[in-house]
Amino acid sequence: MAILSIPEKSIQISNPSEIKNFLNQRGIFFDQWSCDVVFDDTASSEKIIKAYAKDLTPFMENGGYETADVISINSLTENYDAIRAKFLSEHIHTEDEIRFFVDGQGLFWFNLETEPVFNLLCQRGDLISVPAGSKHWFDAGETNPFVKAIRIFIDMSGWVPHYTDSKIEEQFQDFKMPV
Ligand SMILES: [Fe+2]
Repeated sequence: MAILSIPEKSIQISNPSEIKNFLNQRGIFFDQWSCDVVFDDTASSEKIIKAYAKDLTPFMENGGYETADVISINSLTENYDAIRAKFLSEHIHTEDEIRFFVDGQGLFWFNLETEPVFNLLCQRGDLISVPAGSKHWFDAGETNPFVKAIRIFIDMSGWVPHYTDSKIEEQFQDFKMPV
């Protein structure tokens, strides 16, 4: 279940409908999907995607999304520090960055510029769509990362990060994940 934090205001929101309202008011789509299937580490991408077809298929059809895959990061992931660094600096994409968390967790940070920076801890069952052009960064944690997420694309090339070089993320380095 997601948790939304506004560090500068010491605000934390864990009620799903309040989170949804907060994000929707800012043009950020958020939803939660349920699934009874428990996956082990050997579950294939196809099996995971099929298990969420009830929600995933209409979502993709309505949004004009063409492809979906599964990304898996854990403590055995090679070159994790380099992978982490790639998304830890503020950046934008030319298409929406859509992630559905099958398991594990990660922190999406948003800098909408007109208000304090906020972040959303995404966990199992949470779907987030970072709008194209929105300044953001992502962190799965310095140690023991665990992310299993479905990525949804119109065109994978749109997911290349374009860095802002603002270094704003450095102001929030000491933030501790809420759980
Ligand atoms: Fe991104």
